[in-house]
Formats: sequence, C-alpha cells, structure tokens
Amino acid sequence: MIGTASNGRTISITGLGCHVPERVLDNAELERLVDTTDEWIMERTGIRERRIAAPEEAMSDIALPACLRALENAGVEAKDIDLLVMATVTPDMSFPSTGAILADRLGAADAAAYDLSAGCTGFMYALAQAYGMLAGGLAQRALVVGGDVLSKILDWDDRSTLVLFGDGAGAVVMEPVAGGGFLGFELGADGGGGVHLWLPGSGSRHFDEPEKFVKMNGREVFKFATRILVQSAETLMERCGVTIDDVDVYIPHQANVRIIDHATKKLGIPSERVVVNVDRYGNTSSGSIPLALADAAADGRLRDGELVLMTGMGAGLTWGSALLEWTKEMAA
Ligand code: UT7
Repeated sequence: MIGTASNGRTISITGLGCHVPERVLDNAELERLVDTTDEWIMERTGIRERRIAAPEEAMSDIALPACLRALENAGVEAKDIDLLVMATVTPDMSFPSTGAILADRLGAADAAAYDLSAGCTGFMYALAQAYGMLAGGLAQRALVVGGDVLSKILDWDDRSTLVLFGDGAGAVVMEPVAGGGFLGFELGADGGGGVHLWLPGSGSRHFDEPEKFVKMNGREVFKFATRILVQSAETLMERCGVTIDDVDVYIPHQANVRIIDHATKKLGIPSERVVVNVDRYGNTSSGSIPLALADAAADGRLRDGELVLMTGMGAGLTWGSALLEWTKEMAA
C-alpha cells in the first residue's frame, strides 16, 4: 500500500512522549545469564543495554506515562481524544484491548480505542490508520501509541533472542495542522516470511502447544531487514517527489546497528541525520520508532519545516515508511 497526502486536511504530530521501565539490563549481566559476551553483542548488534519491565508491570503500565507526556506536550486533554490506536504484540491480555484499558485509565471516554498488531512495524501502521481517519474527517484528535514488553515473551535461556530485545513505549498526538504534516506512507506485508519471526503458541492455531516464546531465524530477518528498509524508503520518496538529500532526520527501526548502518549507506544519507538509540534500549519492537522520535525531539533535532523519514520492519513479515514535514502550527 502506498499513498501520498491528498488535498484534504493536513495532519501532523503535535505532541510526543515516551517511557521505559527503570530496570537496566546490561551486557555484563547477560554474560552471567547465558553463554554470550559483551564483545559479541556489541560487535553483532551495537546494543549495550536495554530496559526490562518489573514482574508486575504490563504493557499499559509502560504506555500510560508515555501517553500522559504526549498529551501534555501537545497541550491536549485526554477527554478531547476521539481515537486511540495502540500498536503492540504484547498487550496486557488478548481482550479487553490495551487501547481500551489505556483510554479508560487516561479518561479518554469519547475515544474509539483498540489494538493493532503488525510486529515491530505496528507503530507505522498505526500512524497510517490514524492519518486516514483524521484526513477523512472521521476523527479530530488521535493518540497513537507504540510499545512492547517483549521481555515477557522471550525465552530467557535463548541467547540468540534474549540479547536483542528490550521494553518501552512511545506515544504521539496527531491533529489537523495549518500545512506540512504527513506527505505519504508505504506499508506492506509478506505473510510467507512469517515463520522467520513468530510466537507459535500464542493463538488459536497452536493453542495446545507449550511453546510460548518468540522464535526467530535471525539470518533471514537480517536479510529481509537490510533489503526492505532501503526499498520501502526509496519507493515512498520517489512517490512523494523527494530525494534523500531533502531528508533532514532519518528514523529507522532500531533493531541492530549493523542493519541501520547498511540502510544509511545504501540510502546515501549522512550519519549525523540518522537517529540511533538501539545501543541504550535494544529492539523495543512497536516502541522503537516512537522512542527514537521522542529522543530526537528531546535533542532538539525536530524543527519546523524539517523532513522526517521513518521506516519500520518486523514480524509478519511487515514493513512501513512515512514521510513527515515536521510542523506543529495548528489548523485555523
Ligand atoms: O524487529 C526485527 C527483529 N529481529 C531482528 O532484527 C534480527 C535480525 N538479525 C540479526 O540482527 C542478526 O542475525 C543477529 C544479531 C540475531 C545474529 O547475528 P549474525 O551475525 O547473523 O549471527 P548468526 O546468527 O550468523 O550466528 C553466528 C554465531 C552462531 O554460532 P556458530 O553457529 O557460528 O557457531 C550463533 O550460535 O553466533 C552465535 N550466537 C551467539 N554467540 C554469542 C548467536 N547468538 C549469540 C549470542 N552470543 N548472543
């Protein structure tokens, strides 16, 4: 699916916030848990540490502070949100949705609220959905949340997945603005590649299986990631009539520094325009892009009129890119 902004309402991000659990799990501690080394993890992934939720912390507990910060940053009250999309593969439970739980905890009583599952690409899919509803006039003010608590569904004896992932969430408020805003989206899915990153015992297909942990074919996902990050971004830029030289801030999915470096080189974007925080958080799945976006904002890297390119990829296999002209000036 690919589309550029129509002549209708222009929609942008008007507030953002993030939250990660307090507990830091560094590579030295992982060395004591499984057969791995700080050297291997740094060399193959660039990850130094990640955050891990406390036993009693569920998805909504981590997403709630991110939502409150995003609302405050936008100067919007929860009661004025009429759409809440929560992208996650680790909801508090299958139902009620974490979106509905969050809407209730926030006091967003007028919001349509639900969960969306597209692996690590979830936040990009959620942005596109909210954009469509806002641009079409179906909603006026959306809260889009991306987050995961993958530590709860990892096999803590499997070194090949344990070292990669961390927990965290980010949220954005989306509203009609005076100009700029989202220029287009490119989203896709290849269910045939789904077996390379999956949680077989989590639903109705293998409900009687004891296997409740993430399984991953790292090399296949790596090949997919390096190809799709470049392909999706280039397809979208071409459709929007921009080149990589026009992009001021590039936010790729934070899975592995090697994957990010590959995309950076292939796209031909200077590394100082690329946002990287995978060293501090690991791969936070649906939380990855909103956490990086919030980091970029905190560093003063998101200024009015700048062009932001975001590309996610993950389980599904799925991918998604968005181009956004950063603006916070509200529509009249
Ligand atoms: O959002 C998407 C989520 N997933 C991803 O992005 C994952 C994409 N894939 C990757 O990032 C990389 O494939 C990994 C980081 C997972 C693995 O790196 P690699 O360079 O592809 O390593 P490999 O799978 O080819 O394994 C090389 C060796 C193997 O040993 P042998 O068979 O050569 O003896 C592994 O058993 O490294 C071993 N290994 C480890 N050694 C120390 C695998 N995990 C570890 C570990 N510590 N944690």
